Amino acid sequence: MGETAKLILEGKTYELPVLVGTENEKAIDITKLRSSTGYITLDPGLGNTGSCRSSITYLDGEVGILRYRGYPIEQLAEKSSFLEVAYLLINGQLPNAEQNKNFRAKIASYSELPEGIRKILDQYPPTAHPMGVVSAVTASLSAFYPQYIGLPKMSGEMMDEIIAQIIGQIKIIVSYFYRKTKGQDAVKSDSRLGYAADFLSMMFQRNNSTVDPEIARALDILLILHADHEQNCSASTVRIVGSSRVNPFACTSAGIDALWGQLHGGANQAVLEMLETIKKEGGGNFKKYLEMAKDKDNPFKLMGFGHRVYKNFDPRAKIIKEACHAVLDKLGVNDPLLDIAKGLEEAALSDDYFIERKLYPNVDFYSGIIYRALGIPTNMFTCMFVLGRMPGWLAQWKEMRLDADFKISRPRQIYLGETTRNYVAMDKR
Ligand code: ACO
Repeated sequence: MGETAKLILEGKTYELPVLVGTENEKAIDITKLRSSTGYITLDPGLGNTGSCRSSITYLDGEVGILRYRGYPIEQLAEKSSFLEVAYLLINGQLPNAEQNKNFRAKIASYSELPEGIRKILDQYPPTAHPMGVVSAVTASLSAFYPQYIGLPKMSGEMMDEIIAQIIGQIKIIVSYFYRKTKGQDAVKSDSRLGYAADFLSMMFQRNNSTVDPEIARALDILLILHADHEQNCSASTVRIVGSSRVNPFACTSAGIDALWGQLHGGANQAVLEMLETIKKEGGGNFKKYLEMAKDKDNPFKLMGFGHRVYKNFDPRAKIIKEACHAVLDKLGVNDPLLDIAKGLEEAALSDDYFIERKLYPNVDFYSGIIYRALGIPTNMFTCMFVLGRMPGWLAQWKEMRLDADFKISRPRQIYLGETTRNYVAMDKR
C-alpha cells in the first residue's frame, strides 16, 4: 500500500489511500469511507472534491497554468487550430495529417440540420435568449437521431460519430437562429473555410464577401482558449447528467444550461452589460463600481473577475487581451468600453480587497469586447463560449463513458429537516 491518510473517528483509526496525479496533485481516496465508517464528507460547492480521474486538462490556478493533454495553452493558441485542439481533447493526441483530414471530413458531413430542427428553430420568438434556444434545440436533436437513445454501451466509433455530429451542427444551430432573429435566410455551411471562418460566414455573409482571415484566426484562438477547463460547473454537469447513460445531446444541452449562468459562461454577457452601464450611468466612473463590488451589503460583483480555481492571472485572459487589441486594430474600432475595462482592471489589481482575495480578470473579462467588435450581439456571447467548450464537454463525456470506474453520480447530503412526524389533516393546520 502506498501513502495513506489516517482518520480517527470515535476513537477508531482508519487508513485512507492517498492518490497522487502526474502533476503531483494529491487526493485522499474516500470511496470506501461511508461503508467502513458510516460517515460522509460535506463539501458545498465541491471545491475540495475530486469527482473523477481525468487525463484531459491540467490547470494550476495558483501559478496560472493551463494545459490540454499536456500542451500549454499558450502554444496551442499560437500554433494550433480549433479543430486540431478538439481532436486533441477528444482523442488524447494531436492528429497527424490524415487523422486531421478525416476528423474535419466527418465534422463537415454534419453541415446541415434536419428539416424538423430548422422548423423548431423557426418557432422561437426573435427575442428569445439564444442560450435557451440552443440548449433546447441541442436536446431536440435526439428526436432526429434515435439510434443514440437508450444505449447501455456505445462503441468508440459510435461515440466519435456523435461527437463529430454535435461539433458540426452546433455552429449551424447558433448561426441559423441568429439569422432568424434578423429576418435573414440561413447561409449554407462551407467547411473548407475552417471552423471559425465558416461560422462567421454563416452569421454575416453578405454578397459572397469573404471572411477576413485575421478575424477568423482571432475567433479560432478564442475558441481554443475556451475549449476545456477540467471539472468546472458545466463540464461536471455534462458528466453528472451523462452518468445516467443518457445520450450526449441531452448531456451537452444540460452543459449549455449550466454555462448560461452569470457566475459561469454568462459572465461574458454580464461583463459587457456592466461596462456599458458604467459608461452610460457612471460616465465611465468605474471606481464607483469597484466600491460596490467590495461592499458586502451589495450583491453586485465585478463581472469577469475572480475564479474558483485561479488565484493568479487566468492565462487565457492574457492571451485574449492581446487578441482583443489585434481585432480592434484590424477592424479600426475604437471602443471606449476597452478603456473602461483597462481602467477597471488596473484599479482592481492595485486594490487591497482584490489583492487579498487574489481576484484577477478571468477569461470573460475581455472576450465580450472582441465579440462586440465582430458584430455578435451581446446576448449571443455565451453561445460563442458554447461553440468553444463543446469539444471539451464531449471529451469529458467520452472519457467518463470509457472509464472503468464509470457509475451513476449520486452525491449524499446531511439532512437538517424535521424528523418523523404524523400527517395533519388540512382543517387542523
Ligand atoms: N467581485 C467582488 N468580490 C468578489 C468577486 C467579484 N467578482 N469574486 C469573488 N469575490 C469575493 C467574494 O465575495 C469572497 O469575499 P469574502 O472572502 O470577503 O467573502 C472572496 O472574493 C472569495 O470569493 P468566493 O465567493 O469564495 O469565490 P468562488 O470561488 O465561490 O466564486 C466566482 C468564483 C463565481 C467566479 C466569483 O469570483 C464571481 O462571482 N465572479 C464574477 C462572475 C464571473 O466573472 N464569472 C466567470 C468565471 S470564469 C468562467 O466561468 C468561465
